[in-house]
Amino acid sequence: RLATNFLHSEEGQLAEVSTWFQTAIGLVPTMGALHEGHVSLIRKARQENRTVIVSIFVNPLQFGPNEDYQRYPRTLEQDAQICEELGVNAIFAPTPEEMGVPLKNIKGSKVTQVTPPSAMISGLCGRSRLGHFHGVATIVTKLFNLVSPDRAYFGEKDFQQLATIQKVVADLHLPVEIVPCPTVRLANGLALSSRNQYLNASEKEQATVIYRSLQKAKNAFCAGEKNSSRLIALVQQELAKVSILSVEYIELVEPTTLMPIEKVKEKGMLAIATRIGSTRLIDNVILRDR
Ligand code: PAJ
Repeated sequence: RLATNFLHSEEGQLAEVSTWFQTAIGLVPTMGALHEGHVSLIRKARQENRTVIVSIFVNPLQFGPNEDYQRYPRTLEQDAQICEELGVNAIFAPTPEEMGVPLKNIKGSKVTQVTPPSAMISGLCGRSRLGHFHGVATIVTKLFNLVSPDRAYFGEKDFQQLATIQKVVADLHLPVEIVPCPTVRLANGLALSSRNQYLNASEKEQATVIYRSLQKAKNAFCAGEKNSSRLIALVQQELAKVSILSVEYIELVEPTTLMPIEKVKEKGMLAIATRIGSTRLIDNVILRDR
């Protein structure tokens, strides 16, 4: 599979075409309501694989009892059109029954679940979203087994999800390469999210403080500030300027293990979770010594 073929290109020159590309399957797991963030993952998959499959499944296992499972936007027809325009080969959009999952939170259910190490899922979003990452890890493992992709594409916007999936894949020797993709933002810095639809225009404008606060910390970091508490305090000060926003957490962790750090040595991941009304918004930035 890793062998290389030499083929004649149209210009008559020898072109190197790897058989890996000729057979590779790229999977982009999503919950639908596709936006430019998803589109960037699909485009990358399109460039790197012969076959691109997008899964669309609003996964009941990863929603808590008081979360927005029922309300989550479902726009399959529109999503299918976007996929077609991007040259996606197939959409996999199963029902919960077909995926073999109960319609309730996974805790206490009778299905086999994938449990990521608690150190990775007890902080950050895991603190308030009990069972969420069990639900994500379980469904993503099922999708990998059903689709058998060579590569799977995940956004850095959901950094804890990305790091947790990378850990599950490594620990269980799942034969898939995880490809991280950068966060796509509006020009004003707001990270794209299906949940932005819950916000009105003024709330969306005010939510841009999230990105500004991360940038403020990044600038301080680049100017030499490596101390986590001081970087977190900067973010806090900036977020406090917008009263409609309530902060759930601001944490600085090591990007692979997700363990909190007191000081950034080589690399840190500074993450924020906030709420505007009942809408939960997350974002993060990587702090790295160049
Ligand atoms: P969903 O929220 O639909 O996101 C699907 C993928 O798109 C995830 O990898 C997410 O990180 C990525 N994504 C979302 N917004 C992005 C943005 N602004 N920039 C770049 N990438 C972005 O994440 C899930 O679905 C689910 O948990 C899933 C992995 C499908 C498992 O159910």
